[in-house]
Parts: sequence; C-alpha cells; structure tokens
Amino acid sequence: MNVLVIGSGGREHCLIWKIAQSPDVENIYCAGGNAGIAQLAEIIPPPVGPDFFALVNFAKKEAIDLTVVGPENPLAEGIVDIFDGEGLAVFGPSQQAAQIESSKVFAKEIMLEAGIPTGWAEIFTSSNEAISYLKSLKPPYVIKADGLAAGKGVIIAHSFEEAKAQVEANLERLVFGEASRKILIEEFLSGEEVSLLAFIDGENVVPMVPSQDHKPVYDGDTGPNTGGMGAYSTTPLITRSLNSQIIQSVLVPAVRELRKRGIEYRGVLYAGVIITEDGPKALEFNCRFGDPETQVILPRLQTDLVEVLVATVEERLYEVALEWHPESAVCVIAASGGYPGPYEKGKPIHGLEKIPQEGRAFVFHAGTKVEGDKIVTNGGRVLGLTTLGATLREAIDRNYELLRNIHFDKMHFRTDIGHKALRRLGEP
Ligand code: GLY
Repeated sequence: MNVLVIGSGGREHCLIWKIAQSPDVENIYCAGGNAGIAQLAEIIPPPVGPDFFALVNFAKKEAIDLTVVGPENPLAEGIVDIFDGEGLAVFGPSQQAAQIESSKVFAKEIMLEAGIPTGWAEIFTSSNEAISYLKSLKPPYVIKADGLAAGKGVIIAHSFEEAKAQVEANLERLVFGEASRKILIEEFLSGEEVSLLAFIDGENVVPMVPSQDHKPVYDGDTGPNTGGMGAYSTTPLITRSLNSQIIQSVLVPAVRELRKRGIEYRGVLYAGVIITEDGPKALEFNCRFGDPETQVILPRLQTDLVEVLVATVEERLYEVALEWHPESAVCVIAASGGYPGPYEKGKPIHGLEKIPQEGRAFVFHAGTKVEGDKIVTNGGRVLGLTTLGATLREAIDRNYELLRNIHFDKMHFRTDIGHKALRRLGEP
C-alpha cells in the first residue's frame, strides 16, 4: 500500500512511525512533515485548500491507497469530501462531521440534544448582550470562540474585567476572524480532564486507551494554555467502569445524534471530558487524533494501525479488536523559549543521537527541520520524548533521565508530567 499522511507535528510523526510498522505498507508520503518524519517518509508540500487540487493530483499520480488527515484545519475545510468525491480512500470525518470541532456551538447542540452530560452554555453574537449576561455570573468565566482558533479560542477569565475584554476582543474586534463571530459563555467545570479517543466508522465506536494531557505551559498547571506540554497513558483516574461510563454517555450518544442528523462520522472522535464531583462531563470534541495524546496512545497499540484505519474507512470496525501493551507511556514536550507566546526558530538541536533505539524510547519531532547537516527548531513545540515503563513511575523517571541528553538554546519543558497521577497512586 501507498499511504499519504497530512500534517507536520508530533502527532503525524507518531502516526507515520506506527504506519511504517505495517507489513502492508510500501511507500509513505507526508504533506507537510518535519525533520523526524523525513527519516520515514517522502516529504511533499503541505495541503492548500479549499480545492486541495495539488494533493488530489499527487494521490492519483502516486496511486495512494490511503490518505490520513492529521490536523483539524484541512478537515474543517472539507478535504475528506473532496478526496471521497474523487474516489480516493481517506481517513477522517467529512466537513459536516468535522463541525463537532470547528463549531463549538454545533458541538454543544449535539451534546445537549443527545443528553450527554456537559456544562450549561449560552450563545451570543452581540457583545452588549454577552456582557450583561456576564454580570449575572460569578468568576471564573469561560469564554469560547465558536470556530477554530489554533487552540487559543477558550479563555478562563478570573475577573469580570478580563471576561468583558475577552467578549469585546471576540465579538467587536474579531480577534479570530470569522471564528469570533459567535461565542459561548459556559459553565466552568472543575476537575481533571481526560482525553478519550475512539475510532468511529459511522456507527461502531472502538475506543482507544484513555490518556491525560497537560495544557498549561508551566509546572503545577500554571501559565497560559498550549497545544499540550505532555501526556500519559493510562491514567489511574479512569477506572474500567468510569471508562465504560464515558464511552456510553459521551462517545456513543454523540455518534448516534450525528447519524440522526444524517451525518456519518468516520475517523477519530476525541472527547475531552472533565471528571467532576458529579461524574464525567463533556468539555469538547475534536475531530482528529490528539497531540500529544497520540504519542502515548500509539506506542501502546499492538494492533496494526493500518488495518484499523482501513477498517474505519471501509465501515467494518465491527471486525476490529484493539490490543494494547499493558505498560505505561509518558510523553514530555520540549518547547521553544517563549512558547506559547513569540519564540525564535533555527536553534540547533543537540543530543538526539543519545536516545537509545531500543524500542522503549521515541523522539517524535514536531517543530523541527533539517538545515545543512543539522536539525534545528522550527516551531513552538519542538519535539516530544515518549518512554514506556512497567509502571507510570518508571516511564516518567526514564523520560526525564533521557531528556537530559537533548538540548537547544532556550529549550523548556514541564518537570511534572504525570505527577498528578503519581499522587493519585500515593507515590509523591
Ligand atoms: N492535546 C490537545 C489537542 O490535541 O487538542
């Protein structure tokens, strides 16, 4: 098989690393890519929507058997509809289905209509109305832009002034362009967040192992939110029964509700769920694999990923039973100084060769590129180091020990990835 993967982050490096292990795969191409991906796949230019003309032509010319879409933007722009229309097999939801991530208003309507446990929310297009509503609430205030905003569309404001400024930035100054035309003011849900991802073939829901991300940039969950500074799987927070409860009360009804509306969801559905004192409540849905969740989920997957991706596209997931390594996986992200604010690029990365290639530690590149004979930084999240361990403690300790080998100017990372889980396990 010839496989084309779209995207250029750690998630896509991990997807390609796993796809390359399939005995059915001959050639792998990546539209986008980075320095790590370039070691496994032939890099071609990134996708350009909305007609995706160059990619469609490439897929036909190179006889691509399967295209896998990593990020949300091309999904929201309808790349799957275009590939489908050309008779090209593609993994990912249609544009209509991808609204579950590209419109927070749509997602909330699905949750409420399907009876999925979630926080209350009010929708506004007028800043005056939104601000007078804020006056009836107490902090913290949750303000969410409706559309895609590169992970920056949700603000938790701790004062009325901050919330008001956020409403004005969205609805009056359209800080996120069209994505800001509508906002939600939502209930603040208190508790730990878990990511539960599942393969969906329109009807069948095949869940992956749960994981937890760390969105704030600094230790102790402080500082501004990022795309994710590290993840671990599995998590002691999610017992077997809580896991089933989330599948049955969040993922299954979402897929059913979409079908009721004539929308066949095919691809990965990612539920971000807060475990509140009153039980799990859905916070958001994403229409794709998580990043860095993928980097701790796929290293635990024993099943051939390509078989699962093809079964999803061919709507026969009922044939698939996923098998998982019982070990724990931890990913720590090394980021550029300044991220998630402005940062410099082009810093040489040292020490990558010191990470042993023994199948229990993996460097997944994100913002990297090759410059001459060097690998240099080329993004905010630069790379993620994933380690496996018999226990979470072992995986965490090994990760931080190995991470000491990797350096670039102004590199920063959280030093407490997985510590919440260790505390829960009674291992301070
Ligand atoms: N880790 C968060 C995300 O993928 O959206």
